[in-house]
Parts: sequence; C-alpha cells; structure tokens
Amino acid sequence: RAKRISTPQIRARKGGEPIVSLTAYTTQMARLLDPHCDLLLVGDSLGMVIYGFESTLSVTLDMMIAHGAAVVRGAERSCVIVDLPFGSYQESPVQAFQSAARIMAETGCAGVKLEGGEEMAETARFLTQRGIPVCAHVGLMPQAVNVAGGFKATGRTEEDARKVTADAQAMAEAGAFAVVLEGVMEPVAAAITAELAVPTIGIGASPACDGQVLVSDDVFGLFSDFTPRFVRRYANLGEQISAAAAEYAQDVRARRFPAPEHCFIPKAR
Ligand code: KIV
Ligand code: NA
Repeated sequence: RAKRISTPQIRARKGGEPIVSLTAYTTQMARLLDPHCDLLLVGDSLGMVIYGFESTLSVTLDMMIAHGAAVVRGAERSCVIVDLPFGSYQESPVQAFQSAARIMAETGCAGVKLEGGEEMAETARFLTQRGIPVCAHVGLMPQAVNVAGGFKATGRTEEDARKVTADAQAMAEAGAFAVVLEGVMEPVAAAITAELAVPTIGIGASPACDGQVLVSDDVFGLFSDFTPRFVRRYANLGEQISAAAAEYAQDVRARRFPAPEHCFIPKAR
C-alpha cells in the first residue's frame, strides 16, 4: 500500500511542482481520482452538489464525517482534507477543536479546512498546536454568502486586496499548512502566492498559485445548475448519464431488457 501524502509534504510543495487537487465525496470517486491527485478535498460544496441545498450553510458535521470516512476508504495515496461545516467552528477555538477532533478521529483524514482570515487565525493556531493540521480558505467564502450578499470575486479594490492578503498572511502565520484562495483577482492571488511562506491552492485565482482545486462535479459535467467562469469542463458525464438512462427506459418499455443472458433460466433436464 502506497504511503499517503502528509500535510508537511503538501506544505513542502511551496514554489515546487503544482499541487493537484479535486473534491471527492464518495469512495468510488476517491478511487478514481486518487492516482491523479495530491490532495482530495471533502468540501462542504457537497451540500449543493449532492444534497441539493441552495448554499453550504445546511451541511452538518455528521454529513462531513460520513463523506470524509467514505473518501478516506477510497484513497490510498492522496492527502485527504475535510471541510469544517458552517456553525461547527466559528463560535470559539474550543468548539472548533471539538468538531475537528471528531472529524479526525471518525474519518482518518489528514487535516481540516476552515473558512476565514484574521478573525480565524487564533482558531487555526489553537488547532495546529493541538495536533490538527489546518488548511485555510480565504477570498470568496461560501459560508459567508449572507454577509457578502452573493458569490463574488474579491480583491477588486485596493482595500479589498489588502484585506484578502492580510487574511492569507494571518492564517499562514497561525500555522496553516496551505491556504485556498477562492475567487481572488488574478494579480492579487499571484502577489499573495509570492509573499506567503506556505502553498496557495487556487480556485478562480491564478495559474501562479502553488496548486489548483476544482469541484469534481463541475469538472466532469455532472453538476450543471450553474458553472462558474473559473471552471474548465473536461467531460460531459451528465449528458452521458441522461442518454444511458433514456436508452434503458426505452429497452424496459419495449421488453428488450432483460435479455436471456441476464436471466436465471433453469437448465432443461
Ligand atoms: O467545498 C469545497 O468544495 C471547497 C473548494 C471549492 C475549495 O471549499
Ligand atoms: Na468548502
């Protein structure tokens, strides 16, 4: 069994070969992606992608644990990181520790990710000092959609750029092993990457980032409620599934399925 990539190994990729990351929510998807990725993210995007919620706010700790454990079972070499869901960490460092400790213990993942910058730095330090590796997530933070008033890229104004830069820096200094930059103006993301001591992992950020992450269902054309401009679609599996389901339906209605080879037919004696 290949040894899993650790969070210090991800950390050590700063300025080196780009970190390849995709989301995974199930064992089977983890098995398919594991040989190609360095980091598998069990993102709380699963709330929108597989549970049909309007935002990530309704995702629970139990959901993240169930899917985190499923992904760990399917991954052999990738570093598996699980999102802390909304409401499970923002109250205090102690609350964050209790939630993160459950995720670590019950899934076997390598670390957790949480949204937030300067205001979450104390929490990131509290967790890392107590044995829980933290990946930060700054810029566009989907759990803050109600405060932000929508899903908008950040770093447009100088003040905004300074804020996201300070957020990334605060989390790196607090011990985060990597920082996800989501929806950040390209030059700002490139500048943060140049300044930060830890890897940046971009999503709608910059090719200069130390790694890239996307939501798998977007990449494979499985989730098409909307496609953000930062997604490149590498397959159209949704269309293939629809076509296959239509063919199956026709075959059943025409009694073309099952065929004799699918049936248990007693041998004549
Ligand atoms: O929940 C998620 O999938 C994420 C990534 C898009 C970074 O946080
Ligand atoms: Na997330």
